[in-house]
Amino acid sequence: MFRGMPGGQPIIILSKNTKRESGHHVQIGNITATKTIADVIRTSLGPRAMLKMLMDPMGGIVMTNDGNAILREITVKHPAAKSMIEISRTQDEETGDGTTSVIVLAGEVMAAAEPFLEQKMHPTIIIQAYRMALEDMIVWAKEKYSIPIDAKNEKEIETVVRSCLGTKMLGKWMDLAVHIAMTAVRTISIEKDGYKEIDIKRYCRIEKIPGGTIEDCKVIKGVVLNKDVTHPKMRRRIEKPRIMLLDCPLEYKKGESQTSLEIMKEEDITKVLEQEEEAIRKQCDEIILLKPDLIFTEKGVSDLAQHYLHRAGITAIRRCKKTDNNRLARVTGATIVNDTCDLREEDVGTQADLFEITKIGDEYYTYVTSEKTTAVTVILRGPSKDIINEVERNLQDALNVVRNIMQEARLMPGGGAAEMALAQALTEKAKSIQGIRQWPYKAIARALEVIPRTLIQNCGGSTIRQLTALRAKHAQAEENWTWGIDGITGQLVDMKQLGIWDPLSVKLQVFKTAIETAVMLLRIDDIVSGTKKRDGGDAAGAGGGGGGGMQQPPMME
Ligand SMILES: Nc1ncnc2c1ncn2[C@@H]1O[C@H](COP(=O)(O)OP(=O)(O)OP(=O)(O)O)[C@@H](O)[C@H]1O
Ligand SMILES: [Mg+2]
Repeated sequence: MFRGMPGGQPIIILSKNTKRESGHHVQIGNITATKTIADVIRTSLGPRAMLKMLMDPMGGIVMTNDGNAILREITVKHPAAKSMIEISRTQDEETGDGTTSVIVLAGEVMAAAEPFLEQKMHPTIIIQAYRMALEDMIVWAKEKYSIPIDAKNEKEIETVVRSCLGTKMLGKWMDLAVHIAMTAVRTISIEKDGYKEIDIKRYCRIEKIPGGTIEDCKVIKGVVLNKDVTHPKMRRRIEKPRIMLLDCPLEYKKGESQTSLEIMKEEDITKVLEQEEEAIRKQCDEIILLKPDLIFTEKGVSDLAQHYLHRAGITAIRRCKKTDNNRLARVTGATIVNDTCDLREEDVGTQADLFEITKIGDEYYTYVTSEKTTAVTVILRGPSKDIINEVERNLQDALNVVRNIMQEARLMPGGGAAEMALAQALTEKAKSIQGIRQWPYKAIARALEVIPRTLIQNCGGSTIRQLTALRAKHAQAEENWTWGIDGITGQLVDMKQLGIWDPLSVKLQVFKTAIETAVMLLRIDDIVSGTKKRDGGDAAGAGGGGGGGMQQPPMME
């Protein structure tokens, strides 16, 4: 890049391959990029959401209306677009739901800044106003526009799960899905030092088995593994089994790579084999001493060990995953033991009710179940892999929603009511703000309206008429704050009647992430991109500060 010097030669500062954009350009570019991403998934919001079908380079397809799942599949180049995709992932990890809303809102909040930038308002002013608005929104959402519910009341939680699933494909099997989500989360929640621990990732496993119909999906209290016994004659059904969990191999130790054994005499080879046999026999004896009915190991089980174990009436299952073993430990009460010589009576698990192997489709599945357990497996069936994958994503949303409510039992009205109520409150407060900050502050109120507006749009309603009516409804009286849009008909309704409620934690996360991201992107006024050559860059690289030999990664792709 060249910078002119009055009258003299140009001074070269950045290398030839480096591209630099700065100032106003960058901000407008970022706004366009975020708006584009928001436009991609705008139609996937609400109960009349459209599905997207995405194809990857390998020819696989993904069918979904989950915001995060859509964005995960598309590749973008612009850095701002990349951070938009990132926030949808954050939202998914934090709360599991609201991944579409957060993108739509962030896009709108960015767009709201455009006229101010055009008028040469400094980004810092806009950012301050945005921050102020966010703080006010959080306070109001917690204090004024949310209601507490009783986390123990099944019916109340059910309504929330219903409104979450109402926007999904799985909504067609609503009763089943609600039942699965509620049972699963209720089972895995445990009280731990006065705090409710609900670890969905670790203790609620989803096993997807193509075939059958969606009605066959069910929750199993316990663990289900895609495994069969190692020896065909071992028992495949044991009631009240004594279970042992190992993470050591029951076979001869393989040497490190390139180990060689030199044998001179013929008897020696027999001796080596005998020693191996002896070692395995010792391991098996140590196991048999404790009389387990069933052992699981993360490693292999040799033919010889199988023989000894079978003779002692013990069923063995090998090569379990670490995570499955941990879950088995939770179900059975057993401790995972690393060496058979350390085995003690306390390590044997006795809490499982039943061990059974059944055949589903062409494959064998091991069930270890217990009524009192705190680990579950959800079995998903369905006509095709793509459908089951979407069912899984939907169920994850539902599971997370149940968890969120059990941990923080406050709800905000859905259907754009919460957003409209906050918009109304912001508009009121803006009147009392001095100076130019009131304009971007007020712009947040307009941006929030994007949620009800999109809901109306997606069911084919008349946006201007309905949105004006909704605005008027909220302005009319304070107690109208639960009025929103019925996402199916596009009419105005009271959410108390329609029964659409979203968890407060999901909504708060949406507001925080959307506005914080917009703030971050507005702060950027320079994008430098380019590659540094391996051999130390151009000769004119001196202005960069680093000098010749230093190799730095490119700042942005
Ligand atoms: N029956 C309904 N009528 C009106 N609005 C509804 C209805 N059901 C859900 N909503 C609203 O739709 C929005 C949620 O839509 P959706 O579930 O498609 O997206 P998301 O939760 O933001 O993202 P995702 O579920 O993909 O992670 C919420 O604002 C919710 O209040
Ligand atoms: Mg949702």
